Amino acid sequence: MTAQLTFGGNSFELAGEAALYWPAHRALLVADLHLEKASSYAMGGQFLPPYDSRATLEELAGLARKYAVRAIYCLGDNFHDDGGEARLEGDAAKLLRHLTARHDWRWIVGNHDPGIAASFGGGVHDEYCLDGIILRHEADPHDPRPELSGHFHPKFRQGIRGRLVSRRCFVRSATKLILPAFGALTGGLDADDPAIGAAIGHCRSDALVHAAGRALCFPLSGGLARSEQGCADADMRRAQHDGGGEIV
Ligand SMILES: [Fe+2]
Repeated sequence: MTAQLTFGGNSFELAGEAALYWPAHRALLVADLHLEKASSYAMGGQFLPPYDSRATLEELAGLARKYAVRAIYCLGDNFHDDGGEARLEGDAAKLLRHLTARHDWRWIVGNHDPGIAASFGGGVHDEYCLDGIILRHEADPHDPRPELSGHFHPKFRQGIRGRLVSRRCFVRSATKLILPAFGALTGGLDADDPAIGAAIGHCRSDALVHAAGRALCFPLSGGLARSEQGCADADMRRAQHDGGGEIV
């Protein structure tokens, strides 16, 4: 079973919990790897579990193998800070070098890594356009073109039988698709947060959760009262029943 969705006139597939596969380009898209976050925190005296970079890259390598991808696009905040490349530990560095050598690898610049130097290979871009879809780090509410981005680390939270369940999710409006954070040590922002609503121009949006091989769709409020103006949502199929969703 595959979790397929359409966006910007193209077909995609949710790959794992936090990556997107674009079959037409045999490309994998991920956002917010935040490599070397643990070592960045350690410099400030706060100790997180180490080897986060290795865990993140191993998961990415696994998906690249599974889908036999040709290209990998990383949508910004690739490293947790601009010193992350220099701190990348040996095994993770070796794996990253291997991945960039085997794939058409593109780093989109993020706010955490504005000076990314691509020391381990790949190309660096402020933005990238593929089949009319803009790839950038942070959604631009004023850009009407279809856009894939990251930055907000969206998570979908829902109370189920008295427990709060939290899962990484994609946020999709008619023209914007925000990816969750892929990195092993990344936190999350509620998918219905006003900051995300503002980033997508308060248009109608859904949280897409990859579960049991399906893309489940949960309508969001946009965080604020919605302005329907300018929100072309004709291609969005919306559903809500029993707190569940439907395949999109
Ligand atoms: Fe980030």
